[in-house]
Amino acid sequence: MNAALRVVPWSFGFRMKSSIGICDFGHPPQVLAFWRRLVREALAMGNKTPFYLCSAHPIAEALTELRVLECADLPPIRHWLSCKTQPLAPLLRWWRQQGRPIEVVSEFEYRAARQEGFDRGNILINGPAKHRWLPGVAEPGLLVNFDSPLELKALLPLAKKLQWHVGLRLRTSLEHDPEHPEYPTQFGFEPADATAALKTLRRAGLTPETLHFHLRTNVQNAAVYEQAVAEAHAFCVAANWWPGFLDCGGGLPPRHTLSPEGRAFAADFSLAELARVFRRWLPRFNGLRELWLENGRFVSARSGVLVVTVLDVKERAGLRQLICDGGRTLNALVSNWEEHELISLPSRSGPMVLTAVHGPTCMAFDQLTRRPLPRTLRPGDRLVWFEAGAYHLPWETQFSHGRATVLWHEGKTLQVARPAGGFEQWWSGAGKQG
Ligand SMILES: Cc1ncc(COP(=O)(O)O)c(C=O)c1O
Repeated sequence: MNAALRVVPWSFGFRMKSSIGICDFGHPPQVLAFWRRLVREALAMGNKTPFYLCSAHPIAEALTELRVLECADLPPIRHWLSCKTQPLAPLLRWWRQQGRPIEVVSEFEYRAARQEGFDRGNILINGPAKHRWLPGVAEPGLLVNFDSPLELKALLPLAKKLQWHVGLRLRTSLEHDPEHPEYPTQFGFEPADATAALKTLRRAGLTPETLHFHLRTNVQNAAVYEQAVAEAHAFCVAANWWPGFLDCGGGLPPRHTLSPEGRAFAADFSLAELARVFRRWLPRFNGLRELWLENGRFVSARSGVLVVTVLDVKERAGLRQLICDGGRTLNALVSNWEEHELISLPSRSGPMVLTAVHGPTCMAFDQLTRRPLPRTLRPGDRLVWFEAGAYHLPWETQFSHGRATVLWHEGKTLQVARPAGGFEQWWSGAGKQG
């Protein structure tokens, strides 16, 4: 043990729980117990790390929480599964079996949804530059939210011929590049272009049905939605157009995730307040039939964990370093800008020391987290990284290694949804054919 290794005081930017000596991200004990039990089961089945372990149960829980947004006097809410957030076949099947629809933004997502049995009328097609791929899979009766004047022009003949149900994505003034707020995002129509698009659609004999916006991810509070809904409403007034469906996109922050400074993304968000926003505004949309939401993170982040094994330990310059068989570069790009719960199996206690958790690739960037962790962690221990059910699989890499196993838990069954990628798969991806 390096004598210079500092024992870290409790207040290290995170809220600390002195009894167990690890960061407290606010998970209820039963949630921690649920994942501990499931990870143990997965390991007992012989699954090798790194693996993602995903479960339907937390998704059902998220949908229950979202019921607070419903109100008997208002139009019903339809929740679309954000496919890109967690493109996992058993999840798509489970969601469809609940009778729920799916939102896609690419040809592959569209084809995956069709393959998993979603009807055309239960697939909402969003995203930019769809004229590149949509003609190749076009079918009658699709639900399409147009994103730009050029895209609309290119797809209009098909939309007319195949009688699509169409809508427009509006860029509200709240949509900026989060890192450079002085610049707008690249999505949707500017209001003047959207007004022209409504005319174009009507001239073509199509009735625009949906007004869509998606603000960004991890929206800070309900007041931001209120401003966006108010802008959408002002647009409808100015255009003298009342859509049957208002699609407010996704963006609800999941609980238990922190910024690198240790601030909970959901700290200022209240679903009850968002419900009040909808109660204030939805009655002002004449003839509104449904409110649509497409939450990715809120619904699925909690539904997965990443499990890695500590392979090596180093101590240098006041830092303990755990080298693991998975990490940021391969499995958890999100860790670049988010801090998630990290627990060990077995549980380790004792003094906390500043510890960096690294993956096995050859970059300092490959660091899942750097925070106080028990000094007793050792090679062979399993580390469990929480809230890995959103934007981990889509951003997975095969950097010098194969893809991780993905396990799916539903009811009382735990099974392999996707086996680990072997050498042949990895090397064929590098251009070596069969
Ligand atoms: C159009 C659209 N809808 C929904 C989502 C899901 O967002 P989130 O995961 O923040 O809820 C996204 C994410 O980028 C999106 O672009």
